[in-house]
Amino acid sequence: MELYQAIKNRRSIRNFKEKKISEEVIEKLIDALRWAPSAGNLESRKFYFIFNSKVKEKLAQAALGQSFIAQAPLVVVGCADSKITQRYGERGKDLYSICDVSAAIENMLLMAYDQGLGTVWIGAFDEKKVAEILELPENLRPIAIIPVGYPNENPFPPERKDKEEIIVRIN
Ligand SMILES: Cc1cc2nc3c(=O)[nH]c(=O)nc-3n(C[C@H](O)[C@H](O)[C@H](O)COP(=O)(O)O)c2cc1C
Repeated sequence: MELYQAIKNRRSIRNFKEKKISEEVIEKLIDALRWAPSAGNLESRKFYFIFNSKVKEKLAQAALGQSFIAQAPLVVVGCADSKITQRYGERGKDLYSICDVSAAIENMLLMAYDQGLGTVWIGAFDEKKVAEILELPENLRPIAIIPVGYPNENPFPPERKDKEEIIVRIN
């Protein structure tokens, strides 16, 4: 698939088929996460791959009841690792580690789309509850929950702002 096509046509999917995801495809998602850029190449990020139905249910509850999360065969939780402070101080923790996770997630969303999968980036959740459910160590902060599965809907593309609103050209 052409990259431009993937970037433009990927949509947030909130309705999934039951179909399982093969190990081969899961490996591609992992590669997409791993090969994203990171500050100082420290890869200050960790990803939980959740297949367990009970844990998925709990995550859906922690995400303000967004029940479609539990419907997906795979739920990925992306976490920022605050150990980066050892090299980059507060800026490492407050900014770089979150950028590291976000860059990896976008890579994964595009790879998933390329593999015929649907995803949605979930940011609305109770961080404390997610940390409890996954028994996260102190250094990990959950940044996003991403349900992954074969799409059972084909949403219309939501509008984007005009180019002039988001781009400033300095010639
Ligand atoms: C940081 C962030 C948080 C988001 N949180 C949620 C969420 O909690 N629930 C949800 O349904 N979608 C969530 N989304 C998805 C957006 O609603 C979606 O990306 C946006 O409407 C554009 O649609 P598109 O992804 O189909 O282009 C989030 C996206 C981002 C980047």
